[in-house]
Amino acid sequence: MNNIFDTLRESHEKQRLLLDTLVSTTGDSSARREFYNELKHELEQHAIAEERYFYAPLIEQDKTIEMSRHGIAEHHAIDKIIAQLDDTDFSSPGWLTTMRSLKHKVSHHLEEEEHRFFQMAGKVLTEQQKHTLAEQYNKEMSY
Ligand SMILES: [Fe+2]
Ligand SMILES: [Fe+2]
Repeated sequence: MNNIFDTLRESHEKQRLLLDTLVSTTGDSSARREFYNELKHELEQHAIAEERYFYAPLIEQDKTIEMSRHGIAEHHAIDKIIAQLDDTDFSSPGWLTTMRSLKHKVSHHLEEEEHRFFQMAGKVLTEQQKHTLAEQYNKEMSY
């Protein structure tokens, strides 16, 4: 049975793959449109489910309150770059520049979650919680 950390890592891998693919797309192509819609959907769903089944129980604990606030604030910063991309034509040269900054921001966020937050959360959550949260996360993402 998976725990919440394996489950979140799986979503992160999907995001990394889409980001890598998107920075190598050119112009207003169907690949750019399709992968962008997929990434946007993935990032939005992931942020909602992660806030509900990872950060919500952790923000209740003294040891992980600050990291939870920081993680959620980064989700908002990521949303802002997505909104900027939504306002940019797929054919505009600025699109790739903004996509690169989204890639940079998301990559940093995923690294921080995997290398710092998961360790901190590992000490706070019980084994039972780690499994239950994974199930709830997967259900929400309908994997
Ligand atoms: Fe996150
Ligand atoms: Fe995440």
